[in-house]
Amino acid sequence: MKFFIDTADVDEIREAASLGILDGVTTNPSLVAKTGKPFRQVIEEIVAVVDGPISAEVTATDFEGMCREAKELHAIHENIVVKIPITREGLRAVKWCTGEGIPTNVTLCFHPLQALMAAKAGARYISPFVGRLDDISSDGMELVAQIRQIYDNYGFDTEVLVASVRNPMHVVQAALMGADVATIPYKVIAQLLAHPLTDIGLEKFLEDWKKVPKAD
Ligand code: E4P
Repeated sequence: MKFFIDTADVDEIREAASLGILDGVTTNPSLVAKTGKPFRQVIEEIVAVVDGPISAEVTATDFEGMCREAKELHAIHENIVVKIPITREGLRAVKWCTGEGIPTNVTLCFHPLQALMAAKAGARYISPFVGRLDDISSDGMELVAQIRQIYDNYGFDTEVLVASVRNPMHVVQAALMGADVATIPYKVIAQLLAHPLTDIGLEKFLEDWKKVPKAD
């Protein structure tokens, strides 16, 4: 399973990249706004740090506007994946991008039918938002399981990108379900290795090591 980081903060991206497990980046307008920097500058900075798929989202809501932005974003760098919301106009824009050879990440997916439509339009990634479904007492990971099954049933090669990840168990479940990618906030990436028994065990090993007689 690939690990993307879900942030527009370049310091967080550098830190995660230093672990050697980072495959790509996803951003959205809210994450870009948090940086306080212009959109294009943020994307160019990220491209310089990570050599992998980097999702940058369109903000137009009409077909022509989305296609224009998609073209502009993809022209920044070949690694840019254009993020498009799953609306009627968005679906048409995904289909257009597919024809132009522009990879897309279809975002704001909350239902398996949206994922099926995105795959039929040729999306590179589908982003089910699991945390936001959990927030409204729905089962976000069940949506991932349904999309996985539908894509496998018909051999769609659209990758299932688990988004709106809120905790390490979302990552475990994503891996067990065979999701292709999880996009994970920095805070959760930092939690992935943590286990109290590892800390206690290491402390004990180091303590006991002091009792081992030195050769000289
Ligand atoms: C996906 O690509 C989105 O950027 C993101 O995962 C949304 O997460 P949130 O629900 O925590 O805002």
